[in-house]
Amino acid sequence: MASETFTLTLDGVDVSAHPGETLWQVAKRAGETIPHLCFKDAPDYRADGNCRACMVEIEGERVLAASCLREAAPGMVVKSATSERARTSREAVMELLIADQPARDTSPDRSSHFWAMADSLAIDVAAVREWLPSRAARHAPTVQHVTGRDESLPHAQGHDQSHSAMRVNLDACIECNLCVRACREVQSNDVIGLAHRGAASKIVFDFDDPMGDSTCVACGECVQACPTGALMPATLVDHQGHGDSAQADRKVDSVCPYCGVGCQLTYHIQQEPSDRKGFRGQSEGEVRGPGTAEVASREGFTAPSRSSVTGFPSQERILFVEGRNGPSNQNRLCVKGRFGFDYPGHPARLTRPLIRKPGLPKGLDPDFDPAQPLTHFREASWDEALDAAASGLLELKTTHGPKALAGFGSAKCSNEEAWLFQKLVRTGFGSNNVDHCTRLCHASSVAALMECLGSGAVTASFMQALKADVVILIGCNPAVNHPVAATYFKQAAKHGTQLIILDPRGQALDAYASLSVRFTPGADVALLNAMLNVIISEGMYDESYIADHTEGFEALAASVTDMTPEAMSGLCGVAPAVIRDLARRYATAERAMIFWGMGISQHTHGTDNARCLISLALACGHTGRPGTGLHPLRGQNNVQGASDAGMIPMVLPDYQPVGDAQLRAAFEELWNTPLDDTPGLTVVEIMDAIHSGTIKGMLIQGENPAMSDPDLNHARGALGKLEHLVVQDLFATETAQFADVILPASAWPEKDGTVTNTNRQVQLGRAAVALPGEARPDWWITQEIARRFGLDWDYAHPREVFAEMAHGMPSLANITWERLERESSVTYPCPAEDAPGADVVFSDAFPRAGGLARFTPTRPLPPDEPIDGDFPTVLTTGRQLEHWHTGSMTRRSQVLDSLEPEAAASLSPGELNRLGVAPGEPLTITTRRGAITLKSRVDPVMPDGMVFIPFCYVEAAVNLLTNPALDPYGKIPEFKYAACRVTRAEKHTAEAPAQA
Ligand code: SF4
Ligand code: SF4
Ligand code: FES
Repeated sequence: MASETFTLTLDGVDVSAHPGETLWQVAKRAGETIPHLCFKDAPDYRADGNCRACMVEIEGERVLAASCLREAAPGMVVKSATSERARTSREAVMELLIADQPARDTSPDRSSHFWAMADSLAIDVAAVREWLPSRAARHAPTVQHVTGRDESLPHAQGHDQSHSAMRVNLDACIECNLCVRACREVQSNDVIGLAHRGAASKIVFDFDDPMGDSTCVACGECVQACPTGALMPATLVDHQGHGDSAQADRKVDSVCPYCGVGCQLTYHIQQEPSDRKGFRGQSEGEVRGPGTAEVASREGFTAPSRSSVTGFPSQERILFVEGRNGPSNQNRLCVKGRFGFDYPGHPARLTRPLIRKPGLPKGLDPDFDPAQPLTHFREASWDEALDAAASGLLELKTTHGPKALAGFGSAKCSNEEAWLFQKLVRTGFGSNNVDHCTRLCHASSVAALMECLGSGAVTASFMQALKADVVILIGCNPAVNHPVAATYFKQAAKHGTQLIILDPRGQALDAYASLSVRFTPGADVALLNAMLNVIISEGMYDESYIADHTEGFEALAASVTDMTPEAMSGLCGVAPAVIRDLARRYATAERAMIFWGMGISQHTHGTDNARCLISLALACGHTGRPGTGLHPLRGQNNVQGASDAGMIPMVLPDYQPVGDAQLRAAFEELWNTPLDDTPGLTVVEIMDAIHSGTIKGMLIQGENPAMSDPDLNHARGALGKLEHLVVQDLFATETAQFADVILPASAWPEKDGTVTNTNRQVQLGRAAVALPGEARPDWWITQEIARRFGLDWDYAHPREVFAEMAHGMPSLANITWERLERESSVTYPCPAEDAPGADVVFSDAFPRAGGLARFTPTRPLPPDEPIDGDFPTVLTTGRQLEHWHTGSMTRRSQVLDSLEPEAAASLSPGELNRLGVAPGEPLTITTRRGAITLKSRVDPVMPDGMVFIPFCYVEAAVNLLTNPALDPYGKIPEFKYAACRVTRAEKHTAEAPAQA
């Protein structure tokens, strides 16, 4: 908003206004909240002016004006609170609407914004309902007359319970249109519309489908926007449809635990009803997902009345979640953040430490029920379990040396927990054998960014897409994997940004793209080098930027000379003219950004893929300015932070190489311990080292390599060979089933901590509910193990850990715990304690020698395992909108599990036709490493010759099939390409895979 102001008069008082402000906004700043129904005071909600609840009187104008729409002007004389005409008009609007509302105590939300507005106008609701006839009595036409529908159907009457997460009761709808704007303009999903005319008009989903059958992606934005409760979270209404949004006892601001977007949210928390049975009020028989049996009644599993760690009553639960105005989400959430909050309360939650019973084999036993772990484990006290956990590891270290141990940390834990975990491995275990899931998602991107730019983080936030003229999305599917970021890409496209999507598969965002190009799987380098060839041969590069900010351009130019569009077209499957068009659009844009995902990184040439993208940006000068930049969309909620904190085998915190004596000395001084100077092993290398007998003991914090590693038989075989495995987690995951000791750990809403999202925003999560039973925060568990390794750790709270981190990590300069408590989010790098962090970096120089970024030439290489006659189809893997990573949390969330309950292989209609398989019929997918059988699903955006399978389903674990071949630099496996054979299965066998 412009800084200049002008003056007008509001209710006789001079008030200032900014150009473009509405009278409603001016009044709000002056301390008056004018009644409003169809207007929502939140980012990106356009005023519509349809309800007329906000009328004001303007001197010299005959009719009243809607303050939510009317722009303030210099010298205007406005009467709001002092206008009798305005008050009468507002009351009239409310009275007419009240006549049509269900009675307050039978309304879907008796504490709705609507009733609050009625209260603010002191309307006598009972009297109004007495003397004013309802719409049904006033109007003859009905929806039935217009549509001829069967009104006996529940949803046809405006009551719709077809969705597992939301309830619809159009009796309470005032047709304010807010949900339409929420769906169409804010989240850009375009599912909700206003249908019909006059008295028959109504809100509809798609073509008046039941909500649960519509294309709704369950972001819940409409529920958050609806002022009446006509749209409500299902957890807030009873079976009669009566509800109350104020029934929560308290609320806590935090951050979403799922993806790297880092949406800020508010947990609304309620005391558990005493008669509540089983999982979220359901009878046990209704519970779905892995591990469903009741644990509360198990002997010895009695929870203390108050958690000794968080101090919250243990009988509380999260009732619902709302989006908060964070810098990466502006109140928006996706289905996981909004509705996937109940997994911490799943009956299979671990609540006491467990030790494996003697003589039982380790591994996946089809008879093992994660909710009944006492078949294979016995309960232990914390002291006994921690002693067993630590002594087993210590013995191996004493016998075989420090390098016999390794640790996998978690990108789902906090920064402080990541810091402590890598510190334990480095100072307690005595090696750098520490890694986490960054190795499986963006390690190659980070390797290329470190090499070429000197920094592994994004150069600009995804919000900068709104300022870009051209945005390239390559190898990513944000609508599925980063759904709230996708809403900004859609908005950018609607406002004129050219969205260019490059991917072997189609995706939902294609509908917003100026250009969507599908290329041959694994041929990224050929396509991108051909674009560089065009940019250089046509002189579209930025000569002065290259001269001032880069090195190595001549070598790059020489290397791409022969990679003309014509030469590369056959490799990448894109016509030369299209390659030229792509290159010209990107190079000639004033401001352009590139976003990428694991379609780029999860290849044996993943680092080369990222190098090409960096070269494109450097050649065109598309970094360091608003609306320009390079942005690998980070996966897990804290994969950026866990990497920054040093949970990587070759670097200390802030990416300081372990082999650099000077940098290492600083940490040796900070931690008062000598450190290993050789890089440790990565995730897949650790599995290999277990097989070869080098590594014999592991500590695994919240990771699930028995599901997430490639070639699972190999990985599970390794886990089974470990002489001592300690797992800390929420559930008896597939990995925990190999453990000697299982330590019950903390879910994100149960602890304080910071996380760093894909935009480099360090954000504070606050404990919202009690830890169940004897579960403990992960930082506490790590400290207890460290103490048993003889380390004198004495952290009383994560804020003390954060203070230590700030000493060792220059990236955290000017970010303190106290500041985060005040501001919730601070972007790094941050120049001062009272200044915001930098959304766009590297305007002047790069953090490399001489301040220059580097071009690294690349050559196209085939995938490690190209398709052939025996295995003619490309298998690719990834995530689904509803399920995160290995599904250990999302498959234990009722809403998410009900939306996507079973594994399916997605193929093109043509491919299914060729196989003679109808959608839903079973398929067997076979690679050189194994076979799985699962349901088929038709997906028109799939290319022929390719099959996509999500990796979260243990009953059809696709990582049994994936290729463990590694990128030589990032050491990331080739999850995105394995040669497979797809055949019709005689019978659908959705059984757990054979024990490794
Ligand atoms: S459902 Fe709610 S948000 Fe949508 S038009 Fe009706 S009252 Fe407004
Ligand atoms: S986009 Fe990511 S961070 Fe935001 S609500 Fe969804 S899963 Fe959570
Ligand atoms: S709030 Fe202004 S017209 Fe509805």
